[in-house]
Amino acid sequence: MRISMIGCGYVGLVTGACLAEAGHQVVCTDNDPARIAALQAGQMPIYEPHLDAILAANCRENRLSFTGDAGEAVRAGDVIFICVGTPPLETGEADLSAIDNVARMIATEARSPKLVVEKSTVPARTGRQLKRALEVYRRNGGGEFRVASNPEFLREGTAVEDFLHPDRIVLGVEEEATEQQLREIYGPILEGRFRCPVHSPACPSTKAPQMVVTTINSAELIKHASNSFLALKISYANVVADLCERVGADIEEVIRAVGLDPRIGPQFLRAGLGFGGFCFPKDIQAFIRLAERAGVDFGLLKEAERVNKGRVDLFLEKVRRALWVVKDKKVGLLGLAFKPNTDDIRFAPSLEVIRRLLAEGAQVRACDPKAMERTCTIFPQIQYSHDSYEVARDADALLILTEWDEFRHLNWERIYRLMARPLVIDGRNLLEPEMMKEFGFEYDSFGRPSDSLTPALVPALTH
Ligand SMILES: NC(=O)c1ccc[n+]([C@@H]2O[C@H](COP(=O)([O-])OP(=O)(O)OC[C@H]3O[C@@H](n4cnc5c(N)ncnc54)[C@H](O)[C@@H]3O)[C@@H](O)[C@H]2O)c1
Repeated sequence: MRISMIGCGYVGLVTGACLAEAGHQVVCTDNDPARIAALQAGQMPIYEPHLDAILAANCRENRLSFTGDAGEAVRAGDVIFICVGTPPLETGEADLSAIDNVARMIATEARSPKLVVEKSTVPARTGRQLKRALEVYRRNGGGEFRVASNPEFLREGTAVEDFLHPDRIVLGVEEEATEQQLREIYGPILEGRFRCPVHSPACPSTKAPQMVVTTINSAELIKHASNSFLALKISYANVVADLCERVGADIEEVIRAVGLDPRIGPQFLRAGLGFGGFCFPKDIQAFIRLAERAGVDFGLLKEAERVNKGRVDLFLEKVRRALWVVKDKKVGLLGLAFKPNTDDIRFAPSLEVIRRLLAEGAQVRACDPKAMERTCTIFPQIQYSHDSYEVARDADALLILTEWDEFRHLNWERIYRLMARPLVIDGRNLLEPEMMKEFGFEYDSFGRPSDSLTPALVPALTH
């Protein structure tokens, strides 16, 4: 199949590379000429494990190419995947202007019938608007358009694995022919007919992914409903963690047992600084606004959002309680990315933590395996180091903001000796309180017993 990919961000690149690996002919374009030039030169504009290898292999084998000429890309494909960003507007609604721009471009550039697939996350009923826009923008060209929704569930950090080994593929379609075309595209992935860059020598045998065929409206809604439910789980765990702190229970013990119930499951119940990234915060907001417009009260979701926004406040309260005066204190940050194994800092809690620490006059230093370059464009005034030990040297406090595995395996005994005051506040519950205590650290985290830093409020409850 000949496929065009519009938008070369996290989703566009992973989708393009994996569909090329599945044997299709894929042409990718983006309206950022620097990004296209970098990709043509074999440089990766983002960090995502395994993506560089799979991109390079498929470019070499002439199944995958990049062009800055959007018209050329549109004409090259029978199926066009729209993978552009849908960021939040001030109102919280999804900004669909990039989708609208792409619709205009496809309608004017196409010379033959096309299937246009929404891969970007969009609110329900966008498909209808997209179809209308394609018709309205179409001049006398030969383009006949069908529209489908194929929401993407990949997670940054494991995106290639998620795409090649999905748990489900959702197809929102209106015609039999569209369903057949999309089934053909995903066939090699469903049947395991690709070279997997993640597993060697062979992929583990897992349950075959489900192909879920729905209406376009349902497919669009499935994506928002999935992300919103995961966000609800995280906020729920965070409130339970706050309660654990107050009554002297341990969130890790509680969640381990709660998560063993198969009706609940252990995932997305980690307490800490809360969720960030390009998906959850904006998708939750867009879903709330969609519900409002439809006259449905989604207070449940508003509460999850409110809880999440309060996590940074609670974290900084822990920092203030421990440091007393923040001004002029040397504060080291371990982690900037919104989650491990990515360089993405969009809506990362670290950004708000930095902003507030700087406002309070702290001297901030930071280390992140992949996200320092991006953070530096927003906060050039803080110090960055590739060496966690340099960030710890003479620091009054170390704050853990992202649960990168390498931070877990640091030589904490050495860090203890390097710090001016051995104080660690762990926003991701990455480390074991017992171990930190043995090393002699003052240590605080979320929802777990800590001797000195979080006053348990058990006495208040007895009244
Ligand atoms: N990042 C994720 O983990 C993830 C997962 C699932 C779904 N999604 C959804 O997929 C969509 C894309 O997300 P992303 O993280 O890849 O975004 P991104 O910002 O990394 O990439 C979007 C790309 O689209 C390009 N673009 C914007 N307007 C364009 C236009 N008119 N023509 C051509 N290119 C244009 C941008 O230059 C950019 O390179 C969003 O709707 C997002 O919600 C993202």
